[in-house]
Amino acid sequence: MSQFNAALLTRQHHFPVWFHNYTGIKPPEYWHILYDLLLREDRDQLIVEIGAGYGDVSALLRWMEFRHLTCVERDNSLVSYIEDKISQVCHTKVDVINASYPTKLDFTPDILIQVNCVYAEEIYNKDEYLDSIKETYHYNGVPKVFLFEAIDASYREPNSEFPTFVRLGFDDISSLFPLCSITSHITYQYPKNKITKVLYKICAS
Ligand SMILES: C[S@@+](CC[C@H](N)C(=O)[O-])C[C@H]1O[C@@H](n2cnc3c(N)ncnc32)[C@H](O)[C@@H]1O
Repeated sequence: MSQFNAALLTRQHHFPVWFHNYTGIKPPEYWHILYDLLLREDRDQLIVEIGAGYGDVSALLRWMEFRHLTCVERDNSLVSYIEDKISQVCHTKVDVINASYPTKLDFTPDILIQVNCVYAEEIYNKDEYLDSIKETYHYNGVPKVFLFEAIDASYREPNSEFPTFVRLGFDDISSLFPLCSITSHITYQYPKNKITKVLYKICAS
């Protein structure tokens, strides 16, 4: 996949900064964690990936042989990138919905994945942010597993992209999902990385 992405970079030069994560030989750490967290999951479950970007996590999921993957990506210009990557790297097709999640689906996802996808748009405080996460979680019925990567509250540097109200701790997540069993996994740690992020595995009881 890194070769596929590196070849894309030689042909075009307008990729966002985060895309460069996936062009090196070493995959980003959150892929390893995602892989471990999904390893024992049934490959026939219905997976929805929110904010698929250029389809890198989607390709990882396909490579893990999850058969029923739906990608939701709001940026119309990225849809063909996702489809091309899955076709050329994984030799299969994938369903891509061009919409901003939450959007109505005609099924309930078993596994809902939102990683590397925190945006503070049209949200002005922590309560609104927490409500938006809850809405995402419930919108198409409660998934068995929600994999959600958050900016961590331990990260205290000024950063206008990630205002303090989108920085969450374990207590915030456990208050949002009081009946779920939850594990947390650090994916990025400041100052080694630019920011601290935590991937939560939220399992419905
Ligand atoms: C930083 S990229 C990460 C892509 C992918 N998750 C990964 O880790 O490789 C985030 C993507 O999410 C998309 N996005 C953000 N919010 C979204 C939403 N509510 N619904 C669908 N797509 C969204 C953006 O357009 C962008 O392409």
